[in-house]
Order: sequence, then C-alpha cells, then structure tokens
Amino acid sequence: MLVLGIETSCDETGIALYDTERGLLADALHSQIDLHVEYGGVVPELASRDHIRKTLPMIRQLMAEADIDKDAIDGIAYTAGPGLIGALLVGASLGRSLAMAWNVPAVGVHHMEGHLLAPMLEDNPPAFPFVALLVSGGHTQLVEVKQLGDYTLLGESLDDAAGEAFDKAAKMMGLPYPGGPQIARLAKDGVEGRFDFPRPMVNRPGLDFSFSGLKTFTKNTIAQCQRDQLLNEQTKADIARAFEEAVVSTLTIKCKRALKQTGLKRLVIAGGVSANQRLRESLETMTAAQQSQVYYARPEYCTDNGAMIALAGALRLEAGHVEPLEVKVRPRWPLEELEQLA
Ligand code: KG4
Ligand code: ZN
Repeated sequence: MLVLGIETSCDETGIALYDTERGLLADALHSQIDLHVEYGGVVPELASRDHIRKTLPMIRQLMAEADIDKDAIDGIAYTAGPGLIGALLVGASLGRSLAMAWNVPAVGVHHMEGHLLAPMLEDNPPAFPFVALLVSGGHTQLVEVKQLGDYTLLGESLDDAAGEAFDKAAKMMGLPYPGGPQIARLAKDGVEGRFDFPRPMVNRPGLDFSFSGLKTFTKNTIAQCQRDQLLNEQTKADIARAFEEAVVSTLTIKCKRALKQTGLKRLVIAGGVSANQRLRESLETMTAAQQSQVYYARPEYCTDNGAMIALAGALRLEAGHVEPLEVKVRPRWPLEELEQLA
C-alpha cells in the first residue's frame, strides 16, 4: 500500500511517499524558520499562509522526482492534530480533496502518534509493546504503547514541555529559535560541573515532569552572572552544559522508572528533543544497564516531517482504519482518545 503523507501542523511543510512493502520512497521538507525568526517564535497566520503556498507544489515535485503517478497512490495521510488550527486545516483540506479526486481513502493522523512511530522508519524497528518518551516543543509525555492505537499515558509535564524549556533557555541567552540545537551546540564547549542545575521532581514518586523551575533557575543564573560581569561566551557554554545535563538526567531517571513500572524492555524516544545527542547517549547507557534497548529515528525524522505521517497513516489504513469524509482537525487531541487497531 502506497500512501502520500502531508504534515502541516506547525512551521514545517513535510511531504512523503511511504509504501508498506518497500518502505519510505521519497520525502521533502520545507522549514519556515526564516519566516518566523524575527518574531522569536511561530506566528500562526504566517505559518498557515506559507503552508498554502508550499504544500501542493511540493507534492507535485516529490511525485515527479520519485516517478510516482497519482494512479499508484492507495491512500492519503495528513496531520489532523494536535497543532495550530489554520496550519492543520491546510493539510487536512488538501489531503481530503486529493483523496476525493483520486478516489482513495484518507486518514487524519495524530501528530504525536506519527512521532512515536517514526523509529519504525529505521532498519532495526522497535516491536510492540514499548514505552515511548515523547519530547517535542509542545509535549513531554511517557506513554505505554501496547500496540498501534493502544496508548496509556504514564506521565507528562505539568508545565513547560522539554523542547519549550530548551527554546526559552536559548532565548534568555540571546540565541535564535529553535533553541534546542543551539543549546546543544553551545554545551559542547561547556565545562561540566561549573554550574549545578536542579533536577526537577526526581525525588517525588510518579512519572510527571516539571520544567518551569529549571527555567527560573536558568534565568536567575544568567542574571547573577550578568551582575558579576561574568557572562562571556565560556560562561554561556557552561550554563548551556548544566542546563542540558539537568534536562537529560531528569528524562533519563523518569524513563528508567517507566521501564521498571511497566516491566517493558523497549524504550522509544521521539519528537524534536530526541535528536539530542547527549540524551541518546544517556539513554543508551541507562537501558544497557537494565538489559533493555532504546530506539530512535535519525535526527531529520525526530523533528517534524512528512515521513512519520505517511508511515502512521499507512499502518492505520492497512489495519482497516476508516473515517468519515468530513474535514476535521483537532488543535487539542489527547493521544489516549485514539482508536485502537488490531
Ligand atoms: O517535534 P518538533 O520538531 O516539533 C513539535 O512538534 O514541537 O520539536 C521541536 C522542538 C523544539 O523545541 C526544539 O528546540 C527541540 O525540539 N529540539 C532539540 C534538538 N533539536 C530540536 N532540543 C534539544 N536538542 C536538540 N538537538
Ligand atoms: Zn512534532
């Protein structure tokens, strides 16, 4: 089954062609970062307008480059939520219209389901069941994944998402959006141990997270260094290092706890923050010591992309998922409300 995937939930237009037998055939990504950079964050109306300009030409180009005719397409998958409503509506209305014109089924994919299945695009895909750590700009969640569509929330952030914390910390240091890769790059030159940042909520039982205290701690540390006239490039790198270390060790402690609580041996990490090298290394070490295994996608499939949406849609359509023809998007959409498929 060959599925065309369309991702337009935020500031990235992603298009892909995924075949259940042959795997990922082609994908393309257009990032709107340049469009939003002067505002320090995503401007929803600008995002929607850019998706309108880019989506259809990108589909045409990708199909031409991959030499795929419309008659070869068996289904269309588009992101139906969660995300920015205007941006979602662009992909949803285009996806539905193409499906109607080509007389194939369409499926509205949950963006976070796309993320958590993305490691299945790789050569050594994780088998169900597993624990998933979803860490993006909008979500920090630990989920027990029994099978496709069967998700139980184990814990989540009570305030800021992990990616959001990276973005805000970067902004405080005068670094551009998105801040995660910027902090990670800066942290490479940082000296370990110069600053000791708190690990929020690790001493409390349970699997919830909180990152707002860490944000305040970062803000206060920067202010103190400024007062002491110490805020040079090295100090910034040392702060970035301590911040990254605190987020990574907090996430690692909670992942270890989730594996223990569920008795599962496979951990999947997904979402933009799962591209973080230090997080991957820390989870490799932790899972090896637990006789468990961690799975992640290559960096370009950790952040938003069309491939994960095409994959999730293809797995759903293949499992018999059907839905009404209406164009429906859900800016807020709990993962646990998804339809379970055998
Ligand atoms: O999944 P994603 O592309 O978009 C959302 O659905 O939110 O995640 C974007 C988030 C941003 O907050 C970005 O700063 C963060 O992922 N991110 C990273 C890294 N790459 C992206 N955070 C830490 N380290 C990275 N290497
Ligand atoms: Zn995302």
